[in-house]
Amino acid sequence: MPPLKKLNLAILISGRGSNLQAIIDACEREEIPARIDIVISNKKGAQGLKRAEKHCIPTAVVSNNSHTENEIEKVLDEHKPDLICLAGFMKILSPSFVSKYRGKIINIHPSLLPKFCGLHAQAQALAAGEKESGATVHFVSEEVDSGPIIVQRRVPILEGDTVEALSERILRLEHQVYPEAIAKIASERLKKSE
Ligand code: GRF
Repeated sequence: MPPLKKLNLAILISGRGSNLQAIIDACEREEIPARIDIVISNKKGAQGLKRAEKHCIPTAVVSNNSHTENEIEKVLDEHKPDLICLAGFMKILSPSFVSKYRGKIINIHPSLLPKFCGLHAQAQALAAGEKESGATVHFVSEEVDSGPIIVQRRVPILEGDTVEALSERILRLEHQVYPEAIAKIASERLKKSE
């Protein structure tokens, strides 16, 4: 049997990059059939850039203004990734950008979407008195934090939880859920090509 073709990933970040790290680790341990081709940040000095460099993954820094999308498109056109993974990328992508890459852009969000879109999802869940929250990986569509769900997992909200405690519990889950979603897409694409 020929070796499985790995999915080429472009990962878009703006900051810490702990989800990026989880994907790097899953690729290196060969837990998912994927490789990271390029990490793109719209923030100079983002911690995630250092994580990528440590693993010899190419990086690109784009400006954080009205040119951001054009600059990202140039990098993507050069690398032609199979999948564009938003991992803490703190800029809303325009409908024209989303439609150009439709079906190829995925995002992770720290809530049980469609509940609690947008910023501070963990605080929103606590304020609403929810008993559980979670993490969702979904395809990106024109509306923020919507689009078909790929994987969703739950965590309990405990008595006396703070935003920090809940965020930490969800983040640990995110680090499992993101690689799982990439693996699911890879296996679905393989089935389609058979
Ligand atoms: C995560 O909580 C993710 O769900 C949200 O932004 C945060 C990024 O964290 N979209 P990190 O940069 O991956 O550590």
